[in-house]
Amino acid sequence: MLRSMRASLLLSAVVLAACGSSGSAVPTWHRDVRSIVTGNCAGCHTAGASIAPFVFESYTDVFVRRDLVRQQVESRKMPPWPPGPGCAEYAGDGSLPDKDRATLLSWLDHGAPEGNPADARPASPPPPAGLSRVDRALRLATPYAPVQSPDEYRCFLLDWPETERRYVTGFVARPGNAAIVHHALVFIATPDRVAQFQALDDADPAPGYACFGGPGGVTPVLGAWAPGSRGGDFPAGTGVPVDPRSKLILQIHYNVARGPRQLDQTSIELKLDSAVTREAFVLPWANPSWITLHSMTIPAGQPDVTYSFTFAPSPFLATITSGAIPPGPFTVYAAATHQHLRGTHNRLEIQRANGAKECLLDIPRWDFHWQGSYALKVPTRVQAGDSLSIECHWDNSAKNQPGGVAPRELNWGEGTDDEMCLGFLYITQ
Ligand code: HEC
Repeated sequence: MLRSMRASLLLSAVVLAACGSSGSAVPTWHRDVRSIVTGNCAGCHTAGASIAPFVFESYTDVFVRRDLVRQQVESRKMPPWPPGPGCAEYAGDGSLPDKDRATLLSWLDHGAPEGNPADARPASPPPPAGLSRVDRALRLATPYAPVQSPDEYRCFLLDWPETERRYVTGFVARPGNAAIVHHALVFIATPDRVAQFQALDDADPAPGYACFGGPGGVTPVLGAWAPGSRGGDFPAGTGVPVDPRSKLILQIHYNVARGPRQLDQTSIELKLDSAVTREAFVLPWANPSWITLHSMTIPAGQPDVTYSFTFAPSPFLATITSGAIPPGPFTVYAAATHQHLRGTHNRLEIQRANGAKECLLDIPRWDFHWQGSYALKVPTRVQAGDSLSIECHWDNSAKNQPGGVAPRELNWGEGTDDEMCLGFLYITQ
């Protein structure tokens, strides 16, 4: 009896010792956490590379901010990766894997120990942004200093220098002043629409024009950039046509919360080709009656207002895409959604002719400050009888008003007090 007790005590001592030496119980900075932070945080939290407020390189960098780190990681605000789980798989998924999240939180629970530098594991930061070839770099004609604090949305018209139809086959944006550029979107002003956007620019004496939620009309998107976006070549063999006499509209969201008045001269880099195997089109997706009939009424005070729109586009593709894509099945490579400040949740899906649903993008907690475009790991086909569906939710109650203003009825529009429910799909025939 005594003997067996002793034996089991001994056994548990051995087990404890084994635990201590393998370290599975308490994660340390050097052995477990440094590689997680390098791979998932340091790409943005690095000197001069983005609007992220501090550098996360050394143990001390993270240790002194451990409470803030816990709060951001627990609430899933950091790293910023808006798509929810269980919808689709994306290339360049920026979410923190569950296992790493658990390790990071457990490390914080145990007082964030540094551990032994000899235990360090190799850490790989994300690969740098870039195109396989840069054919054109376009940038703001003059440096611009945002005047509105904390947020300003400004659209700049960029001249399109090409004299023949060219296909954009890759896109990267390079913020001129990474401390104030929060995100950037590039739209195509096709030749028939240039005058409309030029008039907005001409009416505003400063460079560019104020544009909160859109460039001043629904027009195709060419590319999106947010901190951490790497940009790069479009899917092989595909490209977006841009005709001579077009312009590009560069919409920049400046955030000057942390800095004084500063200049920015953002540029974009493009890869161009004269021909592609499959012409791509960025398909905007919304109920036309929301826009033309103002039917997307969002009453004041309501905490969950929903609108959705489901429609089979295949027979009408030639009309919808101005001839770019013929009627019939098509392939979806990437998806994005857009709402304004009271948006809470949105979802884009394919509803198959047999009733099955296939999720393309689900943003469970919409944040206007983190808009992006998400490339599907495996492009998907929309068949002739299938529908595309977009659904958006808003909270227009008193507790969800920017700046604490009184709720008012909202509808479709471009301003901070207007709303949208818009999807974008990068498609080819
Ligand atoms: C895609 C870029 C990006 C990545 C990746 C990223 N951050 Fe951030 N982080 C930001 C930006 C930008 C801000 C500034 C706040 C904002 O704009 O939302 C920020 C702010 C923070 C803050 C301060 C929040 C506050 O309220 O002051 C903390 C803490 C933080 N990040 C921790 C992390 C941690 C930990 C990771 C990795 C697990 C991480 N971040 C990954 C871009 C990033």
